[in-house]
Amino acid sequence: MKTQRVLITGGAGFIGCNFVRSCCQDAGATIVLDALTYAGNRATLADLEGPENFAFVEGDICDSVLVSKLLTQYAIDTVIHFAAESHVDRSISSPAVFVHTNVVGTFTLLEAFRHHWEDEGKPEGFRFLHVSTDEVFGSLNFDDPPFSETAPYAPNSPYAASKAGSDHLVRAYFHTYGLPTLITNCSNNYGPYQFPEKLIPLMCLNILLGKPLPVYGDGQNIRDWLHVEDHCSAIATVLQKAAPGATYNIGGNNQVKNIDIVEQLCALMDELGGDLPTSPSRELITFVPDRPGHDRRYAMDIAKIQRELGWSPSYDFATGLRHTVQWYLSHRDWWQPLLSDQYQTYYADLYGDRAAL
Ligand code: NAD
Ligand code: TYD
Repeated sequence: MKTQRVLITGGAGFIGCNFVRSCCQDAGATIVLDALTYAGNRATLADLEGPENFAFVEGDICDSVLVSKLLTQYAIDTVIHFAAESHVDRSISSPAVFVHTNVVGTFTLLEAFRHHWEDEGKPEGFRFLHVSTDEVFGSLNFDDPPFSETAPYAPNSPYAASKAGSDHLVRAYFHTYGLPTLITNCSNNYGPYQFPEKLIPLMCLNILLGKPLPVYGDGQNIRDWLHVEDHCSAIATVLQKAAPGATYNIGGNNQVKNIDIVEQLCALMDELGGDLPTSPSRELITFVPDRPGHDRRYAMDIAKIQRELGWSPSYDFATGLRHTVQWYLSHRDWWQPLLSDQYQTYYADLYGDRAAL
């Protein structure tokens, strides 16, 4: 990242802020563009603000005038596009904003970056890296091989469909205009700064608060979990080494059933969480009606990025999960304000009617 002048969209969210913190220290310029939706938190980046080569801009990726202005004003050569609506459950209850941000927003960025790149004489070093998900490939059966980069797109949720749409636009901009794009499709991330609505932080905080631990369906769904720092190092590697137009799958070689994660979190919290309202905390586990259309299994084949770019995950899951639990225990000041009235309403709407199975 040494000389690059980077526009990071969604840099106040979970993965974006980890990327800014771990990979942008030596960039020529780091400009964060974030709309600060419920999932964005400027305070997470507060200690980085100040130096001349860092700027935080509150704004929407769908605002083409603003995006074009930033690209020119800061002489941006690299866009790393994290901004999205990212939670499957919210995409089921409110799909419109997913189509707007994830599809129209990505289109707006691509158009602005294409004009900027053309105006600058199509420099070879420009890059547009689009951060996407394994969910675009749909659901695997238990004995299917993991998804490779050539797996057919088969998105099942409005979230996955909107990310698939954005991936297709990025691909089309490479093929039609020669825009130097890259796409990464990653599996489920965990680690510091993840918003409390997602599985791992939700279970940790509910244990601390003595609330039920809502496991959807039979708890046998499988995700391929990757520590967020490993995801960030993979993105930095793809940016440095990959040829324009390439796509890479990223994952942890780490398939775990939901119920096993919840059990592990209960054990860690019992060990590390001090005086808990309910002990042992596994007594809080509650099976609730399933998420509509819930994908059974995701798993990524990461042979291509390992072979071509020399990247592999570094965390083992037991260590990464322990660090994550310790982080939430020692960062109450970060997550407590996020449990706002707005969040309580969201929580009651999603979980309130879900009687235990
Ligand atoms: P997040 O929900 O934590 O953060 C999203 C960020 O985007 C927030 O800061 C939000 O304010 C910002 N944002 C939303 N709409 C915006 C808009 N219109 N304009 C500008 N900013 C906007 O998401 P995350 O978990 O950090 O995910 C980041 C990216 O990685 C997403 O594109 C997601 O699809 C992808 N991804 C996530 C995971 C995962 O496990 N979390 C896995 C694979 C891929
Ligand atoms: P999530 O963190 O929402 O990620 P994704 O749906 O993108 O994979 O959920 C991870 C898994 O955990 C998923 O299979 C749904 C399940 N889950 C629950 O069982 N209970 C919950 O309260 C949540 C939020 C998720």
